[in-house]
Amino acid sequence: MLSQRMQEALNVQVVMEAQSSQAYLAMGSWADIQPGLKGVTKFFFKHSDEERMHMLKLIHYINERGGFAIVPALKQPVLTFVSLKQAFEELFAHEVKVSEGINELVDMSLQEKDYATHNFLQWYVNEQIEEERLARECNDKLELIGDDKSGLYLFDRDIMTMENGERR
Ligand code: FEO
Repeated sequence: MLSQRMQEALNVQVVMEAQSSQAYLAMGSWADIQPGLKGVTKFFFKHSDEERMHMLKLIHYINERGGFAIVPALKQPVLTFVSLKQAFEELFAHEVKVSEGINELVDMSLQEKDYATHNFLQWYVNEQIEEERLARECNDKLELIGDDKSGLYLFDRDIMTMENGERR
């Protein structure tokens, strides 16, 4: 059984994952109307779906442990970006925040001696290592590319393989 405090904290994480899903959905929609960013568009939409899955996993866990998962209202995310680089910088910053949230939950689970929740959270700990790595790698590449259009072309072409090949 989850403590009230743990339940509330997990529900805060539900909000964060849901908000991430919305943020990446908006990035996908923005990329979709930019010329030549089909790969990046796919990447953002896929990430949005993954964040929804992260949220659902939390919802199932909270309810399974005798709590009540709250489906939250969401803020409208940032809709437009001055550049692809800016979008990816925001994505990285977002992931760092998500990791902080997960770390706080892990910390709380240990304080409460809630080892089931601690165990459940390890999946998120590992996932965040990958998510941060991928976001950092994208930012590094975009930094190198700068305004070079052929570089951007290759980035867009390779982003899905970069994710699928190296990530899982
Ligand atoms: Fe679910 Fe990208 O954090």
